[in-house]
Amino acid sequence: MKPESIQKYRPFPAVELPDRQWPSRTITHAPIWCSVDLRDGNQALPIPMSVEEKLEFFDVLCAIGFKQIEVGFPSAADTEFLFLRRLIDENRIPDDVTIQVLVQTREHLIRRTFEAIAGARRAIVHIYNSTSPLQRRVTFGDATREQIRDIAVEGAKLVRELVPTVPHTEVVLQYSPESFSDTELDFALECCNAVIGIWQPTPEKKMIINLPDTVQWTTPNIHADMIEWMCRHLDRRDSLDVSLHTHNDRGTGTAATELGLMAGADRVEGTLFGNGERTGNLDIVNVALNMNSHGIATGLDFSDLTSLRHVYERITRMTVGERHPYVGELVFTAFSGSHQDAIKKGLDRRDRETVEDPAIPWAVPYLTIDPQDVGRSYEAIIRINSQSGKGGIAYILDHEHGFDLPKTMHPQVGSYIYGHADAEGRELGNEEIGDLFFEKYVNLESPLHLLEFELDHTGKKDGELTCHATVKMGDEVIRGTGCGNGPINAFVHLLAELGYKTFKVTDYRSQALRGGSDADSAAYVQIQDSESGALLWGCGVDPSIEMAGLRALVSAWNLQHPTP
Ligand code: KIV
Ligand code: ZN
Repeated sequence: MKPESIQKYRPFPAVELPDRQWPSRTITHAPIWCSVDLRDGNQALPIPMSVEEKLEFFDVLCAIGFKQIEVGFPSAADTEFLFLRRLIDENRIPDDVTIQVLVQTREHLIRRTFEAIAGARRAIVHIYNSTSPLQRRVTFGDATREQIRDIAVEGAKLVRELVPTVPHTEVVLQYSPESFSDTELDFALECCNAVIGIWQPTPEKKMIINLPDTVQWTTPNIHADMIEWMCRHLDRRDSLDVSLHTHNDRGTGTAATELGLMAGADRVEGTLFGNGERTGNLDIVNVALNMNSHGIATGLDFSDLTSLRHVYERITRMTVGERHPYVGELVFTAFSGSHQDAIKKGLDRRDRETVEDPAIPWAVPYLTIDPQDVGRSYEAIIRINSQSGKGGIAYILDHEHGFDLPKTMHPQVGSYIYGHADAEGRELGNEEIGDLFFEKYVNLESPLHLLEFELDHTGKKDGELTCHATVKMGDEVIRGTGCGNGPINAFVHLLAELGYKTFKVTDYRSQALRGGSDADSAAYVQIQDSESGALLWGCGVDPSIEMAGLRALVSAWNLQHPTP
C-alpha cells in the first residue's frame, strides 16, 4: 500500500489478560467438528449447490465422519427448506449425525425454522445476531447495546417457546454473537450470558456458544486471548460447548483455530478446503490433518484427499490451489535438487528402518506426513525441471523405470537430463525422462555395434575364457577373439586386438531390472578415456546378465566416440 493509504488503518487493541494460559498449552485431542459447507460454504458460491448436489455433498460429509453438519438456512430460501425436508422425509440422516440449522434472531424466520426441522431425530438450532460496535453503528443505525442484547434475548425466548412444538426432535441450542471478532468482550459476554440465562443448559444437556471470527481483524494470538477470556467468564461453563468459527481474511484461519483450541474451545466449525465467504472459512481438512501429523486421531477420514477434492470441485465449482496444504497438486512435489536428494535419502532410509521397526515415527526431510496417508503416491513427489538435481533424476529412473544407477553415475545422467529441461524451459514427464535416459545411455550401437558374441570356456587355465565376437564399426563388419577372466575382460582384450582399446574399465555393476520385461538385467560400465582421463558411464539392458554387461561397455565406448 502507499503511505497515504496506510494512514486509514489503526492497530487492533490487545486483550488485557496478563495471566493467559493458552501459550503454554498443547492440543492433545480433537474437538467436536461441525461442517458448515452446506450453509456458509454454499451461501458464498457464485452458483450455489442444487438440492441434488447438496444431497450428494451431505453423504460425502457423513462418509468423512462429521457428526454435526449445518445443512443450511431453511427459512431463507425454498431450496434450503426443500433440501432439509428431503433429508428428513427420506430418512437420509444417519442416526449418529446431528443436523444444524442457522437462523437470524427474527420471529418469522425462527418459526419457519422450527417447521423445517419437525421430524428430525436431533437438530441444533443455531441463532445469531450481530453484536460489534461497527455493526451496531452502521448496519443497525446506531443501535444501543441494550437494543442489540434484547434482540438476542427475544430470539432466545422464542426458541425456548418453540422447542415443545417439535416433540419428536431432540433440540440442541446454539447462540452466536455474530461479529464477535470485533465486539467488546464484556458486551459479547453480556449477550451470551443473557441467552445462557434463558436456555438454562446443564452438563447433561449442554448448549453451544459459538464465538465467530466473522471477519479476521487481527492476529491469532489476540483471537486466542478473546477465547480464553470468554471461557473464563461465561456462566455455566461446564454446561457449554464453546465453539470456534474462524474465517480467513488475514490468511490465519487455521492458526486462529489452533490457538483458540489451546485457549479452551471444545468445538470447531469450518468447511472442506476452506470454502466460504471472501477468503473463506476455516479449512477443516487442514486443521484435522495438522492434528493427525502430531499423532492425534480426529474421527475424520481424509485418507483419499484427491478423490475428495474432485468431488468438491465438481459440486462447488471451486478449484483447490496447487499449493493448498495437504491437497494441492504440488504440495508433495520437490523440484529443487537439494530437496530431492534429501527426500530420496529419507525415503530410502525409512524403507530400511521399517524392516526392523514397522512403527518407527515418520521422519523424512521436507515431508511433514507420509503422502500415502492422504492417498497420494510417491510418484508425484519428485518432478524434474531445470532446478532439479541428480538425486531427483536418479529417484525417477529408479522408482518409475527400475534403474538403480550407481551413485557415481548420477552426476553424468543428472546433468544431461536437467540440461535438457533447462533448454526446453519446462518440466519433464516421467516417461520423457526414461526415454531420454534410454536414448543417451542404453544399448548404444553406433559407431560400435556388437552383432554376435560367444564364450568358449574350454582350453584355458585359471578360469580364463575366450570370446569370439562380430562387431560392426561404421559400415565394416569385423570378427575378433579375446581372452580374459570374465566376459567383459575378454571383450576388452578383443577390442584391443582390433585396435579399439582407448580406455580402461573402472567400474561395473549389474541388477535385475525392476518392472522390466521378462526379468531383464541392467548393467552399468564405467570406462576411463586413456588420453583425457574422463570417466564415462554406459548402460546395457538384456535378458542375459552377461550381454547386459557387454552392451553397457559398448554404450560407454560409443559415448566416448560419438558419431559426428
Ligand atoms: O461468520 C459468522 O459470523 C457466521 C455466523 C452466522 C456464525 O457465519
Ligand atoms: Zn461464517
